[in-house]
Amino acid sequence: MTEREGTTTRTVHAGGHRLRALTGDRPTGPLHLGHLVGTLQNRVALQETHRTFILVADLHMLTTRLDHLDELEMNIREDVLGNLAVGIDPDKATIYLQSQVPETAELFLYFGMLVSVSRAQRIPTLKDKVRELRIARPSYGLLGYPVLQAADILLMRADAVPVGPDQSSHVELAREIARTFNGRFAPVFPVPTALAPLGGTLPGTDGSPKMSRSLRNTIDLFDDEAAVREKVMAMYTDPTRLRATDPGHVQGNPVFAFHDAFNPDPDEVADLKARYVSGRVGDVEVKGRLVDVLNSILSPIQQRRRDLLADNPLIVEDVLRSGAKQAQMEAADTIRQVRAAMQIDSFD
Ligand code: TRP
Repeated sequence: MTEREGTTTRTVHAGGHRLRALTGDRPTGPLHLGHLVGTLQNRVALQETHRTFILVADLHMLTTRLDHLDELEMNIREDVLGNLAVGIDPDKATIYLQSQVPETAELFLYFGMLVSVSRAQRIPTLKDKVRELRIARPSYGLLGYPVLQAADILLMRADAVPVGPDQSSHVELAREIARTFNGRFAPVFPVPTALAPLGGTLPGTDGSPKMSRSLRNTIDLFDDEAAVREKVMAMYTDPTRLRATDPGHVQGNPVFAFHDAFNPDPDEVADLKARYVSGRVGDVEVKGRLVDVLNSILSPIQQRRRDLLADNPLIVEDVLRSGAKQAQMEAADTIRQVRAAMQIDSFD
């Protein structure tokens, strides 16, 4: 048994096998500190207790990035290396590429019959995406985005889905689909639950509530020391404070949110906050300490990436090959049950 977020989460099924966790990233670009706090640390812990699947959602990229497909290979590579560098162990967790498990598309098609158009249109992230990415004519495929995600989750028969709050409406849809399928055909799927991130949501360097690539307010896991320094020194702080002797605001100040998230010395953070509020420390000192803290967190991650690649330059290929094999086995098993339940296996 483990305790998470105040609720008890079992780690074994009634039937005795380990519970399954599944999560994934869209390969949009390098992983950043927001990913570390929001999901990567969670995954590293989960791989010890759960049968863990991490998928690289390249098919999901087709819903919004058809004109950026040339970046896909590099972004997939970065995503896999990022996961490995923060401590995902491919002997414990299965990392796989969504497009290498074609049963995903088959299950997506079946699930498409179980979701009404109006239900899919009500998913809040659809409107957000259309607005943020200024999509003039949303595709049929984009409407299916959360249905495809449900196919990811249920194809591996996952019980737990560690994702940020922005994804909870998608997990909710996966739960509905699992219940509908199980009730109408046969009990093939566990009803998955979302697991909230352990570390909360990290703000962006510009002070917006969320660190995000599209807002260009990230500090990336593989930014070198100079880049980290430059980004931290340019970080948004307290706009009302003109001199180090002015009393400053800690609340809503991302520099302190970062100290809270990453500084291992709570006494130092408390001291910096007290001096900031009473006008006895300058932004340069507070930021300088943050640069040191971040570099001490990032440098072992970056070292691990170098070691992994030095040890095996084809590590990404190897991890994805063995991940695909494992995921394909699970997928074949699920699809066989699904086709039998739906009686579309008569001539198999
Ligand atoms: N939609 C998720 C995101 O944007 C990525 C994703 C795809 C995912 N399939 C998934 C997450 C399955 C969890 C489970 O971050």
